[in-house]
Amino acid sequence: MELFDKITELKNEIIKEIKEAKNLNELKLAGEKNLSKKSPLNAMMAHIKDLVGEAKANFGQAMNKARNEVTEAYQNRQLELSEAEIKEKLSKEKIDITLPSVSYKMGGINPFYLIQDEIIDIFVSMGYEVKEGPDVETDYFNFERMNIPENHPAREMQDSFYITNSLLLRTHTSPAQAHAMDEKKGEPIKIICPGKCFRRDDDDVTHSHQFGQVEGLVVDKNINFGNLKATLELFLRKMFGEKREVRFRGSYFPFTEPSVEVDISCMECHGKGCPTCKGTGYIEILGAGMVHPNVLKMAGYDPKEYSGFAFGVGIERVAMLRYGIDDIRRIYQGDVRFIEQFTRK
Ligand code: PHE
Repeated sequence: MELFDKITELKNEIIKEIKEAKNLNELKLAGEKNLSKKSPLNAMMAHIKDLVGEAKANFGQAMNKARNEVTEAYQNRQLELSEAEIKEKLSKEKIDITLPSVSYKMGGINPFYLIQDEIIDIFVSMGYEVKEGPDVETDYFNFERMNIPENHPAREMQDSFYITNSLLLRTHTSPAQAHAMDEKKGEPIKIICPGKCFRRDDDDVTHSHQFGQVEGLVVDKNINFGNLKATLELFLRKMFGEKREVRFRGSYFPFTEPSVEVDISCMECHGKGCPTCKGTGYIEILGAGMVHPNVLKMAGYDPKEYSGFAFGVGIERVAMLRYGIDDIRRIYQGDVRFIEQFTRK
């Protein structure tokens, strides 16, 4: 009987060792020691040769039972420890959903570009091609080709940022007309030219030394003032609403003849007169006219055969009127509080 007690004692010791394993690594070591062929428990098998008959059978059974209990204890502990390990990992890696999240601010689109794109869309829908000219122009294209010869008083108004005696930052997008005509070499033209312009202006709430314009030019046979009027009325009503009255006033530009200043009825007072329109009921919105015969001639178009119209609209001016922006400088300052108010429709 002593032998059987020895088995139980050894088995209990091993099970205790297994149960006391603090982690899977310790358990592994305990397993290597006690579950292998050379384990102390298996070493007990050596005694079987001293036994006979029933005692031998009982001993074998007791040994099997002990081994099974040890294996079971090992498996249970293994399960326990793995679960504990997973639990610990989970609690360590737990995401605290009550923490305030990182907030990403949505920006906006500068109203300058919203309006520029809208103008482009309107004219593209009427079959216009978009052609950009260079920001740095020669005196020749900026003035001469626009029928503004040297010493012409119209230069004074736009006298500007010169790079050399004959190179300057363009004062209007009109020279893009001349580039387009040179490129088309006598073929019909229907283009808009969006871009930046620069003038030696005093910066105030409505003026900036840098601003954007969209130039328009149509040249073909039989283009008349009615075409100009219909085109600009359509554009301005798309831009400012169907109810806008459009008024054409005689004006002067060296590169158009006749020339007009185009006004729309005030969107605040609908023509009655208010501070927005300075009591006049109308707001000046763009310059336009029939392309001057000299401008056509300089580009190789015969003015007896071809005629055309042109217009130039200030992008910031349209943006300010459309969105009720009180100071042009807000458009350039990049203040998020301003910009984030604008998004694409
Ligand atoms: N270039 C003129 C300006 O900057 C605008 C304009 C363009 C007028 C085309 C008539 C025709 O003021």
